[in-house]
Order: sequence, then C-alpha cells, then structure tokens
Amino acid sequence: MRKHLLTVAIGVLALSGTALAHEPGEVIFRVGAAHVAPDVDSSRVKVGGAQTNIKADVKSDTQLGLTASWIVVPHFGIELLAATPFDHQVKLKPGGGSSVRLGKVKQLPPTLSAQYYFLSPQSRLQPYVGLGVNHTWFFKEKLASAQKANYDDFELENSWGWAAQIGADIQIGNGMYVNASVWKIDIDTKAKLRQANGTPVSVKAELDPWVYFLGLGFRF
Ligand code: NI
Repeated sequence: MRKHLLTVAIGVLALSGTALAHEPGEVIFRVGAAHVAPDVDSSRVKVGGAQTNIKADVKSDTQLGLTASWIVVPHFGIELLAATPFDHQVKLKPGGGSSVRLGKVKQLPPTLSAQYYFLSPQSRLQPYVGLGVNHTWFFKEKLASAQKANYDDFELENSWGWAAQIGADIQIGNGMYVNASVWKIDIDTKAKLRQANGTPVSVKAELDPWVYFLGLGFRF
C-alpha cells in the first residue's frame, strides 16, 4: 500500500513537472499590487460657457490587481485585467496658484488585451507585449466637504480607449511566477458639476495613466 502511494506521488510529481510552460490551454492567474498613476492633460475649466484659468488634476492610487491570461495558441494569449476600485483625489489647479481639493472619484478599469509571448513556451522567463481595449467606469463621485457649499451634481463620464502593455512572468517554482507589468491606458473623461446657483461647470481631461503591476502568478 505504502509502495503504491509512493508510486502515485512520484507519478503526480512527474506529470506536473512536464507541464512546465505557457502552453495552449493554460491559464495564468496573477494577484498583486496595481498602481494607477494618471498623466493628466486637462482643458481649462468652463463655467457657464466661459473659460477660466483653472485646470483639473487627478492623483494616483494603489489597489489589489488581478490579471488572468489564457494561452490560446503557442506565443499568443488573451488577458483580462481587473482590480478592486481605485480611489482618486480630484483637484483644481488655478493658473499660478496652488491646487485645492475638489473631491474624490472611484473607478474600475477592466482591460482586455491580446498578448504575444516572445520566448519558447518552455522558457522560465516569459516576457510579453499586449495590445487591447479598456473601459473605465467612474462612480461614487464625492465632493470634498469644503466644496459642498460651492458645487453639486459632480459626475465623470466613462471612457473607452486603447491599452498597451509590456510585462514578464518569471517562474520561481512549479506553476508559480513573479509577474511585473506596465500598461499605458488611454482614459479620457469629462467632469461635470454645477455651481450652487445652477451654473454648469465642466472640464475635459485626458488621464492616460501608467499602470504598474507587481504580483505572484499561478498556472492552472
Ligand atoms: Ni487620451
């Protein structure tokens, strides 16, 4: 009996040892820290159609990121990026003045990418590039308490755009990896709000963030 168990154990080890790789049909799940650093290009804030010299700014945030890559054929995979909601501070920057807090917004940026893995499916190092599409959903827009007397109806428009990435899986054990990846994502939005007297206020902003991910990967 003991001998049989040993045979089975060796068999399982041998089997899992053969699937060393980013082979078709494999799925690599990765979990780690995702940092979204907006690279903001803002228009001037419009108040009732008139341009001011104020611009908008959006700050960085780090959340739990999840990616899953399905290897479809050798060297090619499809990846989904997901995360817990990012929470960004939104600021107003008067020309020449120091910025003031306007409020906060949460966002989820699901991104679907086609990936190319350069090296042999057996390689322990798996560098890749990807190109895909992003949808960013903005929600829970909240004005800073100091702004609640000035504004109301704060809202950001959702965004569709392209996403480009580079990254690598580095095998550290059987079916286990360290992953590092970077995306540049095209996220453009328009923030709208209302002054207390009802005058509409709006500003367009290209957030176009760099997204950095560092985590562990597991192959299934
Ligand atoms: Ni853009």
